[in-house]
Amino acid sequence: MLDSQRAAMMELAAANYDPEQISALLRYNAGHFDALVASGRATVMTERSRIVGCAAWQPSDDSRTASSAPRIAEVRSVYVHPDFARRGVASVLLMHVERQAKAAGVSELRLLATFNAVQFYRNHGFAARGAGTLEIGSTSLPGIAMSKSLIEQRSAA
Ligand SMILES: CC(C)(COP(=O)(O)OP(=O)(O)OC[C@H]1O[C@@H](n2cnc3c(N)ncnc32)[C@H](O)[C@@H]1OP(=O)(O)O)[C@@H](O)C(=O)NCCC(=O)NCCS
Repeated sequence: MLDSQRAAMMELAAANYDPEQISALLRYNAGHFDALVASGRATVMTERSRIVGCAAWQPSDDSRTASSAPRIAEVRSVYVHPDFARRGVASVLLMHVERQAKAAGVSELRLLATFNAVQFYRNHGFAARGAGTLEIGSTSLPGIAMSKSLIEQRSAA
């Protein structure tokens, strides 16, 4: 799994992030991914035993503490191995994450998009909320904070 994530970042995000930022992000994700798998909120796609991609979600800290607040969750660890890029793999995984989160009562998904992934998330109805940064130890990873409501809007008649 980590090899696939590393290949994804090194080949698909290298134009936007330097090796130190990529290593920090991979370490950060490695520290969380087992827990996401154990919680049943991570999905891994394989083809003939090869890891093609993964995606996960988790309730956000805000939503855990404020019981009356709308349930917010974060999309995590969306990676596609470069050999399988631009074939719809991440789209299938993200749609699965959305269905799972919605079924669990989540009304809004948030994420910090890497710059290379902003268009991908826009394609799926996420809107940019502004610049964001993930601080991992002494390393900063800038990106774009994005969100999507999972509450269906009724169109005006
Ligand atoms: C972002 C990522 C998950 C997309 O996976 P994917 O399976 O290639 O995405 P899909 O095939 O479902 O969707 C492809 C569409 O997303 C958009 N897209 C994906 N990567 C893009 C890029 N680098 N630049 C511009 N648009 C991009 C395009 O609209 C593309 O459609 P097109 O191929 O017709 O132009 C993959 O590139 C990846 O793993 N990147 C490195 C890790 C990463 O940045 N993850 C996101 C963390 S927030």
